[in-house]
Amino acid sequence: MRKKITVVGAGNIGANCAMWIASKELADVVLVDVVEGIPQGKGLDLLQSGPVNGYDVRITGTNDYAATADSDIVIITAGLARKPGMSRDDLLLTNYSIVKGITTEVVKHSPDCIIIVITNPLDAMAQTAYMASGFPKQRVIGMAGVLDSARFRAFIAEELQVSVENVTAVVLVGHGDTMVPLVRLSNVTGIPLTDLIAPEKLAAIVKRTQNGGAEIVKCLKTGSAYYAPSAAAVEMAESILKDKKKVLPCCVLLEGEYGINGTFVGVPCKLGAKGVEKIYELKLTAEETAALHKSAGAVKELVDVIKKKNA
Ligand code: APR
Repeated sequence: MRKKITVVGAGNIGANCAMWIASKELADVVLVDVVEGIPQGKGLDLLQSGPVNGYDVRITGTNDYAATADSDIVIITAGLARKPGMSRDDLLLTNYSIVKGITTEVVKHSPDCIIIVITNPLDAMAQTAYMASGFPKQRVIGMAGVLDSARFRAFIAEELQVSVENVTAVVLVGHGDTMVPLVRLSNVTGIPLTDLIAPEKLAAIVKRTQNGGAEIVKCLKTGSAYYAPSAAAVEMAESILKDKKKVLPCCVLLEGEYGINGTFVGVPCKLGAKGVEKIYELKLTAEETAALHKSAGAVKELVDVIKKKNA
């Protein structure tokens, strides 16, 4: 039997998630949106791309969660996108109510699914889905690190004119300004980055990675990035569905790891059929640990705002 992935939010990221899933023939797709007609229209359009691209996947668009029943994975992309000059955190309370409401519906129909959250502000929205779902922590995962590390890898590959596949990049912590690309642990097929790129150039690449989302928002003027974010979420879904056990940077609930308790933070994880199967604790320098704690503190502040509103 085919696997089933529901994608909630049929906007830019959601529709592209559906497209990557179909083109990889990973699973049947149910596209859900609050706007009548959008998921239906995009679903049909994608279904009709099947004969051209040679994929046999059922794609359904709907406004009704009944059609999502028994999904293996649910990817939540719904929410407002950032506008120029708007920070991810400005989106907090609006996207909080959206993600909370969606999670409640999702859980009703797919009590055994694994949830991947993309909606920003990512770390706080992943925690929102975790709280609203009542799921074990292994089954609620935020997508940020795969995207951040993809941006870092792309810039490094471009600088060195090597294949992106040869570049391994480790990126830690919060999605946004607090993100830390770990130059020390990143390499090109084992060759340390510091042996290949001059310090000033490397610092510029790190900065560009940290501003990767904003750079695209500035170009697009309306809306934010969607090709790479959707591809990143689908890589995570693929590792889960095929039980590939890839080690990917994911936003997960820490319970004591890195000295952090009760907050969603981006760290390296093994993703397999059970969801988050292992959290890896890197040996960090004092500076890196401080950055990690600073980021966790920023997420906690957002979650506290949410909790206060619901008290
Ligand atoms: N239920 C279902 N769909 C919803 C809901 C809801 N309650 N609220 C909004 N949506 C839908 C919108 O109708 C729209 O189709 O979510 C979709 C969002 O699509 P876009 O505006 O194109 O935004 P997108 O670029 O896909 O980004 C979505 O991901 O990276 C984050 O910051 C980004 O939070 C934003 C989210």
